[in-house]
Amino acid sequence: MTSLFVTGTDTDAGKTVVSVALIDLLKQQGLRVAGMKPIASGCELTEVGLRNDDAMQLAQHANVHLPYDMINPYAFQPAIAPHIAAEQVNVAIDLDVIKHNFEQIQQQADVVVVEGAGGWLVPINQQHTIADIASILNLPVILVVAIRLGCINHALLSVNAIAQSGLRLVGWVANSVTSNNEQDEIIATLKQRINAPCLGIVPTLTAQQDAKDYIELGDLSSKNC
Ligand SMILES: Nc1ncnc2c1ncn2[C@@H]1O[C@H](COP(=O)(O)OP(=O)(O)OP(=O)(O)O)[C@@H](O)[C@H]1O
Ligand SMILES: [Mg+2]
Repeated sequence: MTSLFVTGTDTDAGKTVVSVALIDLLKQQGLRVAGMKPIASGCELTEVGLRNDDAMQLAQHANVHLPYDMINPYAFQPAIAPHIAAEQVNVAIDLDVIKHNFEQIQQQADVVVVEGAGGWLVPINQQHTIADIASILNLPVILVVAIRLGCINHALLSVNAIAQSGLRLVGWVANSVTSNNEQDEIIATLKQRINAPCLGIVPTLTAQQDAKDYIELGDLSSKNC
């Protein structure tokens, strides 16, 4: 089993919901699982520093417990694009720092589930995007598609961009963030056009439902796409 990079068609696509589900499913396979959210904007200032809800959720579900700064080295308070948030506080996001932290986490875990920020080509500094994080970590990618009007275009653009990065798309998850009358047709079209397995169709969840019950992880290492 290899570590995974979770990206989405957009911000609010359901990356955290799916990442948490993946962590739970991987734990059920008896693995030591860690979460990582390398860059987060929209953090809350607490007495122990800036804290991001996504990173906290990943950490709560993980069974490898790590210092907060290791799993989220770049935390910004305003809920804005990461490269703008970083510029505002004169922080230079450094891919080597992210790689170093990842390698330290990887030493303690069988699998690290790394959640991106926003979509695949979100800038993180003057030169790099989220794609460069997945590339420098050399991780297989899972794409979360928020099923809504416009998502087919977003999904297919993301699939192309992931392929252009030279990374393997091991699967995608259809996430019904809101109810949509054309959901079945949209998912059928995506299945026909994305050359990677659909790992699950997550419905619009009620408080009693859990995304992990709708995702089939199987043996991801064998999913050659
Ligand atoms: N299938 C679903 N059913 C109901 N609510 C959902 C579903 N998927 C996501 N949500 C809700 O939508 C919101 C956005 O989801 P989530 O935080 O997972 O997105 P994200 O892609 O991680 O966003 P970000 O770009 O901020 O990291 C959350 O409030 C989440 O609880
Ligand atoms: Mg998130």
